Amino acid sequence: MRSDHHSHLEQSGASDESIQQVHTRLQAQKPEKKEGNPRFPLVLLGITCAAIFFGSIYLAHYSSRFDPLIYNENQKPVKQAAGGPVITPAMLGKRVFTANCVTCHQATGQGQPGVYPPLAGSEWVLEPQHEKHMIAIVLHGLNGPITVKGNSFNSAMTPFGGILRDEQIANVLTYIRSEWGNNAPPITPEQVAAVRAELGARGPFTVQELSNLK
Ligand code: HEC
Repeated sequence: MRSDHHSHLEQSGASDESIQQVHTRLQAQKPEKKEGNPRFPLVLLGITCAAIFFGSIYLAHYSSRFDPLIYNENQKPVKQAAGGPVITPAMLGKRVFTANCVTCHQATGQGQPGVYPPLAGSEWVLEPQHEKHMIAIVLHGLNGPITVKGNSFNSAMTPFGGILRDEQIANVLTYIRSEWGNNAPPITPEQVAAVRAELGARGPFTVQELSNLK
């Protein structure tokens, strides 16, 4: 269109000045061009990105891969209703035990003779000098020979440090220390966190390595 105008004006011997006037007029007729896409302003884009970002962080932190037995968006125990049933760490620990430990150590805590050692009456669960060992076993797993209540076992336990939070490990250990006639003090999340921090990333322990722990 514009080049048509151009050549037409040139043929008719128009002066530079009149060409410029025509250009100015054509320029004024052109619709005004707006910046960006008016239907999706930059601010909205920013808010959407922020929402997706925080949503992902929240899910990664709290979903526990949506395991129905683990998923709990309230990291702290549920608030007690006045006069309602009291929810103790041991009760929360029983849920963790049922989801993660019961297949081997059994609901009775007796394990299976020759295969899975008992937790009921176990010196590894009850005795103060084994407290750190017990936490280490659940965090990192155990391989090779171990003697429990005078019986030998030589198998492997998988690590749980990667799938259970400090609070969940503390709760399950508090549970196994207070169930089946066991009676040893509770384990706190802070104790688990301290052992986790001290040991760092590593493979399963042997009993020999446990006894070398300071
Ligand atoms: C796949 C089976 C299996 C699962 C699941 C399992 N354990 Fe074990 N656990 C074992 C075996 C086997 C040993 C002995 C390992 C060895 O022989 O070196 C053991 C050893 C232990 C010990 C020390 C020995 C004793 O009997 O006192 C503790 C404490 C323990 N497990 C606690 C747990 C807790 C708590 C869980 C759940 C978070 C758990 N285990 C889940 C198989 C399992």
